[in-house]
Amino acid sequence: MKIGPLNHVGVAVPDIEEAMETYRTLYGATDITVPFDMPTQGVKVCFVNLPNSQIELIEPLDEQSPIWGFIQKNPKGGQHHVCFEVADIHEAVDAMKAGGATVLGEPRIGAHGTPIIFVHPKDSNGVLIELMETPKDAH
Ligand code: CO
Repeated sequence: MKIGPLNHVGVAVPDIEEAMETYRTLYGATDITVPFDMPTQGVKVCFVNLPNSQIELIEPLDEQSPIWGFIQKNPKGGQHHVCFEVADIHEAVDAMKAGGATVLGEPRIGAHGTPIIFVHPKDSNGVLIELMETPKDAH
């Protein structure tokens, strides 16, 4: 397995509308997608589209959200994960396990509509890594 392009950087935020406004007014971002709920993941998501990548803004939907604790520890929000594309998610899972890394959960459909997994931060210098199968119509 070999990681492909950086797809996005995930940023957990307490208020997605406020965060969108910051990217709009402070940084001049003009292409931000409409936020949508992903109840299965417990988050509301939108993307700030950049020429070479995306910032994924994620807000917890409720106290059951996997990022609820992160926001409690980081009330202003914070950098949460980094996402790389891979050609095949099952091949990636096998390669992670063969390499002794801890894969968090089973492959599931992510915000881009393709299968994703997360790899525990302890396996990558404290960074939570998302691996996402490259959308078939991309690149
Ligand atoms: Co992500």
